[in-house]
Amino acid sequence: MAVKAALLLAAATWVCLSAAAASAFEFEDVPTVAFDERFSPLFGDGNLVRSSDDRSVRLLLDRRSGSGFISSDYYLHGFFSASIKLPKDYTAGVVVAFYLSNGDVYEKTHDELDFEFLGSRWGGQWRVQTNVYGNGSTSHGREERYLLPFDPTLEAHRYSVLWAPTHIIFYIDDTPIREVIRHPDMGGDFPAKPMAVYATIWDGSAWATEGGKYKVNYKYAPFASEFSDLAVVGPRADPVLRFPRRAGAGADQDLLGLMTADYAVMTPQKRAAMRAFRARQMTYTVCYDAVRYASGPFPECDNSDEERENFSAWGESKTVVMRPRARGRRRGRKAGAGAGAKGRTGVASS
Ligand SMILES: *[C@@H]1O[C@H](CO)[C@@H](O)[C@H](O)[C@H]1NC(C)=O
Ligand SMILES: *[C@@H]1O[C@H](CO)[C@@H](O)[C@H](O)[C@H]1NC(C)=O
Repeated sequence: MAVKAALLLAAATWVCLSAAAASAFEFEDVPTVAFDERFSPLFGDGNLVRSSDDRSVRLLLDRRSGSGFISSDYYLHGFFSASIKLPKDYTAGVVVAFYLSNGDVYEKTHDELDFEFLGSRWGGQWRVQTNVYGNGSTSHGREERYLLPFDPTLEAHRYSVLWAPTHIIFYIDDTPIREVIRHPDMGGDFPAKPMAVYATIWDGSAWATEGGKYKVNYKYAPFASEFSDLAVVGPRADPVLRFPRRAGAGADQDLLGLMTADYAVMTPQKRAAMRAFRARQMTYTVCYDAVRYASGPFPECDNSDEERENFSAWGESKTVVMRPRARGRRRGRKAGAGAGAKGRTGVASS
């Protein structure tokens, strides 16, 4: 009952936030693609189900296997977006991920930008985690976690990542939720090599829900996530040579187009909407985690005293459990999916 009331309240808040942001920014102009235009199945065979018009994909997890897809190309910067509807009912241990990575090409020095959705014992109460890795910085993750102000299992919401040479923005619907401005002291930690786009669903029993306390219960399988409105806007690039495929003036044009697009520009209104979202919804950020990072916050952290004061109330850092880097533990994964497909350091949620 209390849970339901909280969700309703959160949903009402979300409408206000979205309305405030909508005047500043719309996704309507972003072109979406059919699955076949830019993506290929990655693993899970029959657990990846494409719609008849090829504009949406269901990724299923059952006892036999998870599933996933990957972009056919690598991109050097861009805007990557999908509308995602998450599995409903009991989903403890289930992880859905929408992310960029080059772990298949750079095993030791890979880059990664993540949206990870962590299932819950209570239908609808998924947690969202974002993360940033550069040049194999897996020993110092940059996690943040948020509770959603809506039930993500009732309808699809849009999750997007803008990756520019100067900054990164994560969006939920029209609202920016995290901005990472490249700081010179980040060095290689800022993703800088071409990445592919991935979407996966898998069994994260070991860590996803309350530190692995609650496992996937296959009585509720199959767990079905739905991906639609797939958008990839950005210069395609050779992952090994690290050059855009369009050279010279073409590449400059592509980059200029990206940097000046609405979704790459952080207006004062958008920043206000971001701060409001973070004040209400964020449950964890590395930027205030003095337990895990005793030597101080990362150089790009834009810390605010009020947020920091709230952090002790969130208290999540006290229960952080590092998950050892694990490879190839997902059943049904194709050989060669490598580190690019999920399987690395993570943090428990509660
Ligand atoms: C990336 O990591 C490799 C291996 O640790 C290191 O040699 C290289 O200098 C790093 N690159 C950057 C840009 O930090
Ligand atoms: C701090 O927490 C309070 C109570 O939850 C909230 O009203 C306020 O907006 C938060 N402030 C920030 C900056 O996070």
